[in-house]
Amino acid sequence: EKGGYEHFMLKEINEQPRSIADCMRGRLDAQNGRLIVGGLRDYINKFQNADRIIITACGTSWHAGLVAEYLFEEFARIPVEVEYASEFRYRNPVINEGDFVIAISQSGETADTLAAIELAKSKGATIFGVCNVVGSSIARATHAGSYTHAGPEIGVASTKAFTAQISVLTMMALMLGYQRGTLSETKYIQLLSELEAIPAKVEKALKLNEQIEKISEQYKDARNFLYLGRGYNFPVALEGALKLKEISYIHAEGYPAAEMKHGPIALIDEEMPVVFIATKDSSYEKVVSNIQEVKARKGKIIAVVTEGDTSVKAMADHVIEIPHAHEALVPLISVVPLQLLSYHIAVMRGCNVDQPRNLAKSVTVE
Ligand code: M6R
Repeated sequence: EKGGYEHFMLKEINEQPRSIADCMRGRLDAQNGRLIVGGLRDYINKFQNADRIIITACGTSWHAGLVAEYLFEEFARIPVEVEYASEFRYRNPVINEGDFVIAISQSGETADTLAAIELAKSKGATIFGVCNVVGSSIARATHAGSYTHAGPEIGVASTKAFTAQISVLTMMALMLGYQRGTLSETKYIQLLSELEAIPAKVEKALKLNEQIEKISEQYKDARNFLYLGRGYNFPVALEGALKLKEISYIHAEGYPAAEMKHGPIALIDEEMPVVFIATKDSSYEKVVSNIQEVKARKGKIIAVVTEGDTSVKAMADHVIEIPHAHEALVPLISVVPLQLLSYHIAVMRGCNVDQPRNLAKSVTVE
């Protein structure tokens, strides 16, 4: 059942090239410049003319929502708010009929997300679900939706569901941007083929497993970790930290790299491993200076970089090189080494990786 892997989590991490491809199958046809997210068909007008997109979710799914905020705003130019379902449902939020609400949930059973949907529905908004489990409560409670088709995810730590959620949301953002005319045809076509190339790049990133295992050995006894990224890699930093916390019980914080100097920088000393996601993108130079700041305070630097990088390599204690991709698609690749890092550290610490203490696969109570 674990397909030869020691844990479901490792199996699911390794399944990502296939699960991402499964998610795109029948939807994306880059050769012919076609992209159809079927679930959107009946609601495309509402989506295209939405005053605002509200994304609601919990945990890892909320991180996928943050990536989507960047995607929707960049490509479709519609304002986006990303809300923790547990806060949204209780704070008497302003919700209007012109709002398009996207609820993201692997299990489709998360109590707070479900309640947020019911609230938004009662205010007349259109609700779209991005779920993995077919026929789940959230899939049934929404007006329409698209399944992620990642296959069953057994490990409590979400991995392949996260990348499948981002895949669906990316397709939605590209389709929306193109139809609204905010994304040019040339760029659209280019992004479609870049998207199609992602599974092969994830496959390549998985080959870093042994290198990451070696790095894990050196940091398995750390008491704290900091994860930093900017732009599209900021949510990836949050996700990397959550993965480490939940399965290895090491305290970790994810932060936008620039926020470091507003507080967390005080934590940095020679004992502190700092994971940077520093791929070649529009914020690269800025991240490089953030790395310098950590280096100056003797923090240990583990950096996820783009293949061929030189500047970060000169400073970091370890570099993990991933294939280049358009910056909007990088989270699909850059999260993979972080999943592996948390996995190996947790295994080395003797933790129950698939069923960490105090956690359940789906949180059906608020
Ligand atoms: O099933 P959902 O996507 O609604 O679950 C949301 C969170 O409970 C979930 O992502 C949780 O944070 C994971 N254990 C993270 O790995």
